[in-house]
Amino acid sequence: MPPQQTITREKIVAAAFTLVRKKGFHALSARNIARTLSCSTQPIYSCFRSMKALEEAVTDHARSYVAETYLAGNFFPREPFFSMGLGYIQMAKNDPQLFDLVYQSGRTRALPGADPPARHQRALIEFMKTDPRLRGLDEDTLSRILKHMWIYTHGLAMLARNNPEYSDVWIRETLHDMGRIMITRIYQEKGIPINEFFVINASPKTRHSITLQHLYFLEQQYPQHRFEMVHAANQIPVYEKNRSAVQELMETVKTCDALIWCFPVYYTSVPSQLKRLIELFFKTEQGGPFKGKYATAFTTSINFFDHTAHNYIQGVSEDLGFQFIPSYSAHMDDFFNADEREKMTQFFGWFVRCIEQNIPVQRKYPPLDIIPVRYRPDLEALDGSNMPSAGPGILLLTDEQDTDGNLVHMTRVFTRLLKERVEKKNIRQIGLKNGCLGCCTCGWDNTCVQKDGFVDFSIKRSNPPGSSSLPAASGTITCQPSGKIF
Ligand SMILES: Cc1cc2nc3c(=O)[nH]c(=O)nc-3n(C[C@H](O)[C@H](O)[C@H](O)COP(=O)(O)O)c2cc1C
Repeated sequence: MPPQQTITREKIVAAAFTLVRKKGFHALSARNIARTLSCSTQPIYSCFRSMKALEEAVTDHARSYVAETYLAGNFFPREPFFSMGLGYIQMAKNDPQLFDLVYQSGRTRALPGADPPARHQRALIEFMKTDPRLRGLDEDTLSRILKHMWIYTHGLAMLARNNPEYSDVWIRETLHDMGRIMITRIYQEKGIPINEFFVINASPKTRHSITLQHLYFLEQQYPQHRFEMVHAANQIPVYEKNRSAVQELMETVKTCDALIWCFPVYYTSVPSQLKRLIELFFKTEQGGPFKGKYATAFTTSINFFDHTAHNYIQGVSEDLGFQFIPSYSAHMDDFFNADEREKMTQFFGWFVRCIEQNIPVQRKYPPLDIIPVRYRPDLEALDGSNMPSAGPGILLLTDEQDTDGNLVHMTRVFTRLLKERVEKKNIRQIGLKNGCLGCCTCGWDNTCVQKDGFVDFSIKRSNPPGSSSLPAASGTITCQPSGKIF
């Protein structure tokens, strides 16, 4: 039996390919390959008739490797065209010797250049048709996009090839921006509608918000549309002081095609900052200022009483005059699941269709018919003798503003009826600056990162010995729909 050949053709090509990727094509020699394989040059010459044959085998292997690894559109499967361009640049940056061999040396006939040869162009256009963002565009338009994006992508690839300091993020964003500009331009030319969405991001985590990352994803799926955004949660102190800023914000919403409320579910409702913003909207302009405009909401949460938050936002939106398209409630981990991403994308597609086709929306919550009541009880007539004991006392938190308002009179009744000491504290006077930031830092040692009067108040209230009073809250419902029964 002849001895088994251990140095096979495949092993030689693999070793040669590794060598070329590391040191460049000029390093390809029988001696270098033999050194890599720890053998003599004899098995190489017995597998390949000549060095030229070996070079061809390595080049073929390189071409297939590039096609499968970099150009198959695997980086962002939902955006195959962008993905392919990005792969091309990534190759230039991270695999420069391979890039040089396949695209710069003239050995593979896979030359880029401004005008890809017809046989490549055909395959590329077929590939472009698989991209949801390019679907429906005719072949001439696709080849125009291809030509321009090809030049731009190749330019970026050369920059990245020679300047490794260009970061991956910068490259990705730059290419994406250009793609968006290009596609928007094409849509404009063809009279395909482009919508302007205004996003009110109400997560106190502003741009680091998980919810917002989902929205960025949707933005990428619909590059022809424009998304304008405000991080409203941390702007509340500005809006409180400067009501014209609220008016300005409302005017901006009016000029857009639709509004997207984007927020996390906090404490079974919307973050307090968003609630305050909505109150300010109602205070600034009455009578449904956004009449007829479309709105929806996008949230993330752990799906615990997220429906109450969604019902609330629908109720207020309708009172503000919006046509409200039922919102989307994602779980905070949904982004990592392809099926869930698909569902969100479809939801957004539906939202876009409603706007473009002006689909009428039925109002879900009728406006509240509020009959003003003036509550002035006869305190002298009250008899609290039958009231049960409240034990250690009650801490009554209130947000009274008006010294002769209904709330004041209601809390007086409460105080008088209970025999125990009721200590009333107005939360407007404890130096509370902001709502919960959702940072969860308090989970560590129960200390809030915000250094405002609330921390001091809560510590003083809860720490003194014997101060185990029961908390109770009284407040005025200022925003109509919060009073609705969902
Ligand atoms: C203070 C706080 C309260 C929360 N309350 C709820 C809740 O009532 N229901 C729920 O499903 N998720 C709740 N969550 C989870 C958040 O909604 C979820 O983590 C969300 O994805 C955070 O989004 P963001 O990064 O955009 O702020 C709460 C989170 C925090 C920090």
